Amino acid sequence: MNNIKIKKIQDVNVYGKNVIVRVDFNVLLNDEGDVKSTYKINAARDTINYLIEGGANHIGLLTHFGRPDGQVNEKYSIKNMTDDVARIFQQEVTFVPECVGEKVVDALGDDTLSKILLLENVRFHKGEKENTKTFAAQLCAPFDIYVNEAFGVSHRRHASVHAITRCLPSYAGLWLQKELDNLKHIKYEPTHPAAAIIGGSKIDTKIPMIEEFSQKYDTVLVGGKTAVQAKERGMKFGDNVIFPIDFEYNYYDIGLGTIERFCDVIKKAKTIVWNGPMGLIEEEKYKKGTLALIEEIANNGEAFSLIGGGESAQMVDESGLLDKISFVSTGGGAMLAYLGGEEMPAIEALLCKGKDGKCE
Ligand code: 3PG
Ligand code: MG
Repeated sequence: MNNIKIKKIQDVNVYGKNVIVRVDFNVLLNDEGDVKSTYKINAARDTINYLIEGGANHIGLLTHFGRPDGQVNEKYSIKNMTDDVARIFQQEVTFVPECVGEKVVDALGDDTLSKILLLENVRFHKGEKENTKTFAAQLCAPFDIYVNEAFGVSHRRHASVHAITRCLPSYAGLWLQKELDNLKHIKYEPTHPAAAIIGGSKIDTKIPMIEEFSQKYDTVLVGGKTAVQAKERGMKFGDNVIFPIDFEYNYYDIGLGTIERFCDVIKKAKTIVWNGPMGLIEEEKYKKGTLALIEEIANNGEAFSLIGGGESAQMVDESGLLDKISFVSTGGGAMLAYLGGEEMPAIEALLCKGKDGKCE
């Protein structure tokens, strides 16, 4: 995926068209039901403004939220976030209680409604995960153009990012393009010394990234539950893979000695990539290690730094140091898949397949 060319939203005239934009508004809500971090929603802003300025008729925003497993479940209704989305974009937004069929057709034909339509959770339909042609055809039918702005699910072979590209002219949104440009830099053109930091749980998804980066980067720092599990399993990696030398709170955070050692590597690095927190950051008292590393990266004004993964990105947002990080990816699993060299079906579906990779 180094020198790939993909079809871009800038390649098409959107004037008068109904555009369906697959976004990733899979965000955490607080106890009041409001969006905790606006970062992932904000990522779609430029594309939405671009479409409005280009004279698109209606923009249907399509997202998943949670994992309702093909069943309608009010808890995961997109209706709950309509006011947050309107506030974040400072635009009027109309919720449409379906993502396919009559209700969508009617909304698109109604000039009294706002430009932006927020469609119901695509994961209320079984056809989404099963990537069926029939469901994709239903998603496509009322629209003229499809835009993928959901990097976070681009490693999934789901209808709204994969099969849908077979029934509408399909393009990458502005944010998706940024994600790919920045990740490409991390993967193929790192300036040395380069350091990768890997934490969080779900060790099996992290192993390919540890292995990949231990070959390409100078140092790999491993923390969080991943480090604890790797130790328990007696796993062995290259000499440049560094594990914590101490922990705090019964392994729920890395210890002070480790923080110092990891910060020393960060200080000297020219490229830094990070996925997954160092501790159980859902609880305030286990955030210390993760925050200390974020601060050290922010202090290193010379390095190109990229942080991703839902929780890590949220921590950066909370820390107020967002603008000190070169790029914060909206992808968790998607970032790992891309960097670990796995398939990215939704990106492959947007490749320019003309002669010499030309877009046709
Ligand atoms: C995320 O939050 O990481 C993305 O939205 C993907 O969600 P998923 O893991 O449920 O597919
Ligand atoms: Mg709300």
